[in-house]
Order: sequence, then structure tokens, then C-alpha cells
Amino acid sequence: MLRSTLKVGIVTVSDRAFRGEYADRSGPAIGTYLRETLTSPIELHTRLVNDQQWRIMDALCELVDQVGCHFVLTTGGTGPAPRDVTPEATMAVCSRLLPGFGEEMRRVSMQKVPTAILSRQVAGVRGQAFLLNLPGSPKAIAECLDAIFPAVPDCLEHVGGPRIDIAPDKFAVYRPHDPPTA
Ligand code: MTE
Repeated sequence: MLRSTLKVGIVTVSDRAFRGEYADRSGPAIGTYLRETLTSPIELHTRLVNDQQWRIMDALCELVDQVGCHFVLTTGGTGPAPRDVTPEATMAVCSRLLPGFGEEMRRVSMQKVPTAILSRQVAGVRGQAFLLNLPGSPKAIAECLDAIFPAVPDCLEHVGGPRIDIAPDKFAVYRPHDPPTA
């Protein structure tokens, strides 16, 4: 079936990548993950900002309000260091939070690495968009997305995004409102 395009924003939050001290590997890792997971059309809009709350808020608002993204993922800046302010920026621009996503990502991640407890990642809704924080490392990105992705398609539809299709070898998507098959 023909699907409308999911507009995705990817915001890398990193002082060092922003200064050019190293290449951003985390933003591209999210893009690769999504391209491998979705079989319906997606359009990626990437941004790279430093760890300043107003810069992160600006990027999130621009992607949702002007670009019209339905799904915005951040990477980095979720830890306890003074410069880690991504959750604060996300909470400041969301009208409501979805605490289950952060709780589940931490729960599953704790089984991989004890320091996953340090991540303060949150998720929430702004307008028609679902916003989700991920930690900075590419390994953590995949672990966290694997933990919550079965609930992402339903969440996107609830907040006003298009219906998306997932590669059947990746996840069994849970859609409680669909009529039963077979
Ligand atoms: N979550 C998963 N799944 N895997 C990881 O390796 N690393 C943790 C944590 N969450 C990790 C993880 C570590 S070491 C930190 S400091 C926090 O995420 C915050 O990372 P950030 O500041 O890059 O966002």
C-alpha cells in the first residue's frame, strides 16, 4: 500500500563534533538504523548542535514547527555532566512527556551496561511530532531503539504522523487498534 512519507529529524548534540574535533557518527547511525528498519518512505533532516540548551531547543522547534517532522530523535547530552542538557531542552519544548520510553530504554540498557542508569533520556510530544532522546554512542543508539521500536509506529499515529511499515525481519509491531488478521 502507498504510504505518505515520514519526516524524521535527527539532532546530534555534541560540543566536540560541533567544533569539528571528530566526525559525527551518531546522527548517521540513527539514519542507517531507520533506513534498515522502515520499509515505508522516510525523509531525513539532520542537524548538529553544541551542548547549549537554547541551541538544542531551536533545532527541535525548527524541525517540528517549520520542517514538519513527525519523529525527531536526538543523540547525546543525556548524562549527568554539567554540559548534558538535552533532556532539559526536550522537556522545555514538549507539551507532554511519555515517560515509558525513557524508563524502558534504561531498563533494557541496564542489562547491557551498568552506566545506562546515568542516562536521563526522555520522550515527549510537540505538535504532530514524537521527540525521543538517545544517548551519544552508536552502540547505545541501537540498543535503545531496539528496546522501544515495536511501540513507535502506534505512537507516531497517535500524535498525528503517517502510518509506517517495518521490515518484518526486524520487529513485530504492536498496533492495538488494528483489526485482527486471519
Ligand atoms: N545505554 C545503552 N543502551 N548502552 C550504553 O552503552 N551508555 C551509558 C548511557 N546509556 C549506554 C547507555 C552512558 S556511559 C552514559 S554516560 C549515558 O548513557 C549518557 O550518555 P550521553 O551523555 O552520551 O547521552
